[in-house]
Amino acid sequence: MELFEELESVKKQALTEIDSAGDAEVLQQLEIKYLGRKGLLRDLFTQLGSVPAEKKSAAGQSINQLKQLLEEKVTGKKETLGTPVKAATGEQFDTSLPGEKKTVGHFHPVYQTMTDLSNIFVRLGFDIARGPEIENEFNNFDALNIPADHPARDAWDTFYLHNISGSQRHLLRCHTSPVQIRVMKKTKPPLRIIAPGKVFRSDTPDPGHFPMFHQIEGLMVGEDVSFAHLKGVLNLFIKEFFGPETKMRFRPSFFSFTEPSAEVDISCVICNGKGTGCSVCRGEGWMEILGCGMVDPNVFKTVNYDPEKYTGFAFGLGVERMAMIKYRINDIRLFTENHLKFLNQF
Ligand code: PHE
Repeated sequence: MELFEELESVKKQALTEIDSAGDAEVLQQLEIKYLGRKGLLRDLFTQLGSVPAEKKSAAGQSINQLKQLLEEKVTGKKETLGTPVKAATGEQFDTSLPGEKKTVGHFHPVYQTMTDLSNIFVRLGFDIARGPEIENEFNNFDALNIPADHPARDAWDTFYLHNISGSQRHLLRCHTSPVQIRVMKKTKPPLRIIAPGKVFRSDTPDPGHFPMFHQIEGLMVGEDVSFAHLKGVLNLFIKEFFGPETKMRFRPSFFSFTEPSAEVDISCVICNGKGTGCSVCRGEGWMEILGCGMVDPNVFKTVNYDPEKYTGFAFGLGVERMAMIKYRINDIRLFTENHLKFLNQF
């Protein structure tokens, strides 16, 4: 049978040639000739296709054995001859083959959005502050004017930890507002900070809720900081992040740690504020994006700031929500499912 005959002759020829190779360069040429990507053994493998089915496996095995034998011979011979001093001439690799595509990673859309948002405030002179995700109950609630029996504790129910140090109860912070307390306790006004980070709530996951998400807190305190400053900063930020045509409005609201308090809406990015027939803003023309207000004097008292001397504003926004509005994402759970089809779009 033809293939077996050819195999025998290749074997004989190869062994003689390898045996008599006098220097490393000749050996390298032989290696390419027999074992290279376009070598004679490759030819034999290609011929396998035309071998009758019942003999195919035997033939495949014989070629493999020959390949192994030649590899051993070449390796053995290399030990005596060494490797060539200069690269052998002749084609060593096929430059027409497609290159290996390397996939380059990129930031997660939440991290990217958090960075984009933070940079806007950093350009306005805000410093970045950070606080721990495991917070004590005092900073997370009491210092923010939310005593133990306050109904707002229900709205922000979170995860409590077993007592880890002395008498203070600890919990996973349900907002970034405790960073306000931490910063004010160790800094004298005037100050301007933002605090990006993870927060936790005992929410059941659905398209709009997830037990872990990210917020950015903002705080500015000084001798004559007013609501007009708050409005100016937020207006600039909204136009920068969502586009210059975006409109903004304040709606009265309630937070224990700000007085007065407001929620901020922007004109719906889908229907441009028209409302009619829009399923995203449910015909409202507006989308809620953050909570804010003037720092409550009680909060200043807790951190030993004189409420007669200092005023300030604070705001808190959800990073996922910003990303969802800007990039038209309809389910918050997509951020943590780690499907590349989703992540690769950013
Ligand atoms: N901490 C509030 C929340 O998580 C947001 C907020 C921050 C409101 C600062 C007012 C001032 O909903």
